[in-house]
Amino acid sequence: MKKLNRRNFITASAKTGVALSAAGFVSNNIFAAVTHSFSPYTSFDQTPLSFAPNALEPVIDAMTMDIHYSKHAAAYAKNAKEAAQAESVDTSKPIEDVLSKVSKYSVKMRNNAGGHYNHELFWKTLKPGGEAKPSGKLLAAIEKDFNSFDAFKTQFSDAGKNRFGSGWAWLVVGTDKKLIIGSTPNQDNPLMDIADIKGIPLLGLDVWEHAYYLHYQNRRPEYIENWWKVVNWDFVQKRFESM
Ligand SMILES: [Fe+2]
Repeated sequence: MKKLNRRNFITASAKTGVALSAAGFVSNNIFAAVTHSFSPYTSFDQTPLSFAPNALEPVIDAMTMDIHYSKHAAAYAKNAKEAAQAESVDTSKPIEDVLSKVSKYSVKMRNNAGGHYNHELFWKTLKPGGEAKPSGKLLAAIEKDFNSFDAFKTQFSDAGKNRFGSGWAWLVVGTDKKLIIGSTPNQDNPLMDIADIKGIPLLGLDVWEHAYYLHYQNRRPEYIENWWKVVNWDFVQKRFESM
């Protein structure tokens, strides 16, 4: 396992000529570490859901889940492939490669490659009857960086509630494996070189209206409160522990 400390990071950055960002953090190094230790990479193809569309009811209703996966997310995957073809991107390589330098590509690529990656992660972090909270190293890291699990939940929920318009709330692994909470607009994500918050997403919450409006209408806070009941903490823990 490659240790994600700042010293190694700076050394690696200097060797590869990667410039430090204003925040003193470059996603490429941490990205390499996680993608080399946590598999599989995210491909350009949409992967099947591991649960039935109605499996998350009543938290997420079947129609919302079905439309979300088979229409919205499928469109991001299709459009990301179209953009890749137009921009000579090898779709046999991980989509993370594109995201880490997305500023070099089109707006279509940014929106759809981001949308595809975000949803592929989102599905994996959901499961019927999810654990109430993580355990082990992830719980310890959350308690260290946010004081308590409840404080973490409040801060994360607020990131989702306060995202104006469409976007995502994130729990991100940053430099030195420090956990960070943030939010991105539209289909941006923390892997992107243009993002305000950078790192490896552990957990993402979709707060686009398409994720909840059929059941919750304008009650985004209620959707967020219920979403905690279907978080697949087992997956999130394994993702964290693989870094
Ligand atoms: Fe979505």
